[in-house]
Amino acid sequence: MAGYIPEHKIDEVRNSANVVEVISSYVNLKRAGNIYKGLCPFHAEKTPSFTVNPQRRIFHCFGCGVGGNVFRFLMLQKGISFPEAVAELAERYGIELPRVEAGQIKAQQKTKGGLYKVVALAQKFFEDELWSQSGRQARAYLAGRGLGEDLIREYHLGWAPAAWDSLRLFLDSKGVPADLMETAGLVRPRREGRGHYDTFRARVMCPIFDLDGKTVAFGGRLLQEEEQQPKYLNSPETPIYHKGRILYGLERAREHLRRLRSVFVVEGYFDLLALKAHGVENVVATLGTALTAAHLRLLKGYVDHAVLMFDPDEAGRSAAARALPLFVSADLEGRVLVLPSGHDPDTFVRAEGREALLASMNKAVGLLDFYLDRTVARYPDSLAGKSRAVQEILSMIADVEGPARQELLRKAAAEKLGLSEESLRLSERRQEKSGSEPRYLVEQVEADFETDVLKLVLLHPETGRTILTGEIESYFEGAAAKRLFLALADQFRAQGRIDTERLVEDIEPEEADLVTGLMMGEDGLEGEDLSRVARDYINRFISRSYKRKSMELSKRIKEAQEAADHANLNKLLEEKNRLMKEMNRVELNGRML
Ligand code: UTP
Ligand code: MN
Repeated sequence: MAGYIPEHKIDEVRNSANVVEVISSYVNLKRAGNIYKGLCPFHAEKTPSFTVNPQRRIFHCFGCGVGGNVFRFLMLQKGISFPEAVAELAERYGIELPRVEAGQIKAQQKTKGGLYKVVALAQKFFEDELWSQSGRQARAYLAGRGLGEDLIREYHLGWAPAAWDSLRLFLDSKGVPADLMETAGLVRPRREGRGHYDTFRARVMCPIFDLDGKTVAFGGRLLQEEEQQPKYLNSPETPIYHKGRILYGLERAREHLRRLRSVFVVEGYFDLLALKAHGVENVVATLGTALTAAHLRLLKGYVDHAVLMFDPDEAGRSAAARALPLFVSADLEGRVLVLPSGHDPDTFVRAEGREALLASMNKAVGLLDFYLDRTVARYPDSLAGKSRAVQEILSMIADVEGPARQELLRKAAAEKLGLSEESLRLSERRQEKSGSEPRYLVEQVEADFETDVLKLVLLHPETGRTILTGEIESYFEGAAAKRLFLALADQFRAQGRIDTERLVEDIEPEEADLVTGLMMGEDGLEGEDLSRVARDYINRFISRSYKRKSMELSKRIKEAQEAADHANLNKLLEEKNRLMKEMNRVELNGRML
């Protein structure tokens, strides 16, 4: 499929498609009340937890958590792209898709194109600076880290000069509008006066590439660590850069991964570059963020096996342990190589050489064993401690997709802990009963009351006006819930109404899973005076947020009292005082019950 599909055509296709009819071509659906149920095509199951809601025109699987609209179903089922899914349905429903001219390209795609351009210009600028007089110190720094010119050029490393505006002046001269530079995260507005200044100053610049080899972002490192400054500064998330979906170096390592079926995963830019400098080609870097399910889906296209080489500190170990459910869900084999303390992959390979690194691979531990040993060791060696370790392991297992995989994990865990599988299964049932919310692989929506408010808008879009214009975003504490709220508010602002079928297409897939899960249920509010209900919700939402904060503060005040920590105590009491005043003010304005 070449070219872009105009928005109104996508709407036409979406509106024409019958979600039950389309999904029925792949899944045997049976009616159950207002919805349809069937065996999920995306994970192995024996009892149906895959549901389709014809009124809301979405699907959701309560077993593995995926959900979305008719386009997402086809994308997942057939492994095709969004435009391909649109094209397929257009053909099925006899809708003709015109080829579009440049003028019709939607604004978002225009921004993306602009971003690629400005980021490419910046990369060129930094690279030229590195090889010019101004980059002398940086070149010496890179040489000192053992990197040769070929490698530096292959990865297009660069240098951001120390001045406040060298990149900005360069981009100005190329006619790049300032707002585009800002969206790319390359400049920031001055706090006083007008204009922008460079984000990256006096830093060695590492461009980050997407799978097409296009530069999408940067990380910049100081030549020396300084007190007041972060060692690395990174581009923000932009329409062309999503941290959770990019692995540094994958584009260049791809061929080697395919050949070797195995990959080293490291944390830092320079870990990757050092391994490359020593002839290790199958390596990618997470750049300090946690491994995500999306990262593993990417790797899964090339390898069967990954070796995590994280720093031998607590952060590195915990990052490795947290990756286990993701690896199991992706059917990828994972191992962990714990380096001698004080070393990261960069310093290790430079001190000991490539052969030593490859030899130490024999010491790499299976991810599951690593996880179980670590979890057991983290709790006291007592009955109570063991029991807490069991609880933690069970909740990890609950994060894994698919009953068969969970079963295998339970077996392994039981063996490790010296328990029978039966007793593990019993504790699991107790844990379920104690009523934990369904867990999501990505980020759990933290507090129930935050999801309640979202659910109200999702199930009754007509309450959108009251809730989404209620200026309540600052009260959200859960990051995922807040993102959803803002996405809903954006849609409402842009279109004057809420269209959930469309929404699930515009948000991140993980968020769409969450939304479709919330939307499959009912809330028993049919026939109520919904505008009153909405006002009540907002009031309750705000008041509960204050209560939570105030309880939290009281708890910390008590702790500070017990510890006789007077400095902290004063600060907390002041904070509580401020909170109470603010609460009274909001109450007086009639915003609370
Ligand atoms: P580390 O702190 O382990 O540093 O961060 P490093 O990679 O060993 O860096 P060098 O060797 O001192 O140059 C690992 C990764 O975490 C991200 C970077 O991507 C870094 O490569 N990070 C680290 C940041 O984004 N910001 C920071 O301030 C520090
Ligand atoms: Mn390092």
